Amino acid sequence: MGIRITPSVLDANLADLTNEVRRIAGVSDLIHLDVMDAHFVPNLTFGLPVVASLLASIDIDADCHLMIDDPDHWAPRFAEAGAASVTFHLEAARDPKAICRAIRAAGARAAIAVKPATELHDVEDLANDLDMILIMTVEPGFGGQSFMADQMEKVRRARSIADRSGADIWVQVDGGISLATIEVAAAAGADTFVAGSAVFRSEDPAAMVERLRVLAAGAHT
Ligand code: DX5
Ligand code: ZN
Repeated sequence: MGIRITPSVLDANLADLTNEVRRIAGVSDLIHLDVMDAHFVPNLTFGLPVVASLLASIDIDADCHLMIDDPDHWAPRFAEAGAASVTFHLEAARDPKAICRAIRAAGARAAIAVKPATELHDVEDLANDLDMILIMTVEPGFGGQSFMADQMEKVRRARSIADRSGADIWVQVDGGISLATIEVAAAAGADTFVAGSAVFRSEDPAAMVERLRVLAAGAHT
């Protein structure tokens, strides 16, 4: 099973995104772009026009994490703009199955995210339409928060949904992933790891990606 490291640019220099992405592009699997609308989460980052411009100037696939209201409207637009993977929050979705299908129809992988207080009950029924399940390991909205180890039971459940589906469903964790926490998440069954502050606040972001990958690969079950 593959391990994917997907650095988040939230802690990078957002005024120089193209160059920041180049610092980690060669060693990372995808770049994680956190779209926030100040409604679904109490923070505001960037939206579709910025993502579309960025996609035109980078050579790495993008993993768009939409922390926004109305993903029924917006999620397919990010796929149409060229994102390789589009993740929307279950809590904000009116018709998750239709969103997944629209994302896939536009050529991207479809993914669903759950906040720490949200259970995975509804996700099992979506397995045929899903390419990734994102278990948030912080409350979404900000980088640099502490990893919530109490979410590992949910990671194990996501892993078992993915395995039982027989499809290539990735299990991603996002929030507080670092050299100190990535092995715990990998051992619980995660195979795709967002890391924001751990990567972009380090002196050598590319080297940090490689170190995280080695630890995750060693701990993955
Ligand atoms: C938080 C975002 C994360 C954030 C992770 O809501 O979804 O992707 O950038 O940052 P760290 O790795 O610093 O917790
Ligand atoms: Zn994220």
